Amino acid sequence: MTEPWPVEVVAPPAPTLYAVPSPLGAGVLPEERPFEGEMRCRRVRRVTHDVVEVSLEPVGGGSFAFAPGQYLTLRASIEGEPVERCYTISSPPTRPHLLTITVKRVPDGPMSGWLHDRLAVGDRLWASGPMGGFSVREHPASSYLLLSGGSGITPTLSTLRTLTDLAEPLDVVVVHHTRSPADLIERAELDAIAGSRDGVRVVWVVDEADDSWTGPRGLMSAAQLDDLVPDLHGREVFCCGPAGYMGAARSAFDELGGEQTRWHQESFSIADLPAGEASPTASPAAERAAGAAYRVRLQRSGRDLDCAPGETVLAAAKAAGVRMPSSCTQGLCGTCKSTLVSGEVDMNHAGGIRPREIAAGKFLPCCSTPLGDLVVDI
Ligand code: FES
Repeated sequence: MTEPWPVEVVAPPAPTLYAVPSPLGAGVLPEERPFEGEMRCRRVRRVTHDVVEVSLEPVGGGSFAFAPGQYLTLRASIEGEPVERCYTISSPPTRPHLLTITVKRVPDGPMSGWLHDRLAVGDRLWASGPMGGFSVREHPASSYLLLSGGSGITPTLSTLRTLTDLAEPLDVVVVHHTRSPADLIERAELDAIAGSRDGVRVVWVVDEADDSWTGPRGLMSAAQLDDLVPDLHGREVFCCGPAGYMGAARSAFDELGGEQTRWHQESFSIADLPAGEASPTASPAAERAAGAAYRVRLQRSGRDLDCAPGETVLAAAKAAGVRMPSSCTQGLCGTCKSTLVSGEVDMNHAGGIRPREIAAGKFLPCCSTPLGDLVVDI
């Protein structure tokens, strides 16, 4: 018996190969744009017992263009003293008119205490940014694992909100560790995203809980990571949290044979670090006294400093009683950015300066040691 109509066999279309996924928001999100100036507080919202969300708008209008995972530096006058700290932006760049930070109270942290207890709607503070390269936008991939501990969830918040707003067809697993269920940050929002979006899975892990907690428990380990994310391999991994947490997460990743190039991490713990606490320099006074030092000329202030080999320019300035703006002292916040008029430095920064700024002669004195005599425009 013959078919009543001709049958045409159509070959299936060849699969489209995406060797390199497009950067997140390519063609949609504006390119990162530096901002610096006064911001007005629009809202302070309590998120947990020790976390608040602060919403800021630029005084005079405008919008922000940044990548999820980047941070900004805030400066406020607290008890008459200027205080600067870095905070990761928790809002997504897809909502560019208000910028939010999500801040955990740090015991004895002047800025976080002020943001929690004193900041009110209408107050102004100074901000500059965006900074940092800890962003999915810098590492295009088709699947991600976002790991966080405690308030290290802030870059995850911005990232997941961005992915959701852009309706990206991505595969994202979020694993967040914290002490107890009371410490979970934005749980309802993230669960709602996971419940309404294909390709998003959120896992909350707590260390201490009563029997009402039915989710996973315990500290990060290889066995736990393998159990929670059996398809770890091939995911681009972003990890943020306290040093102990990140150390455990990295060990677990390594133990499971994770690909080194897929691992990205950020420390959020500089947020309330007292300036100068993390100076990478050992005491170089003896070398300076023995004359084994380079000469650093501060062009505008007309001062000359001795800077011992291996000593940072910032440390030498402090030792000579010269006040220079600084915050993180780790090459992360960009607060100390200055212009190098002549000479060469060995700069070991952590994302606080952009390549184009280095090309334009900028450097970070907090993480730069001279390779010869210098002239600095300070
Ligand atoms: S003080 Fe933060 S980059 Fe130098």
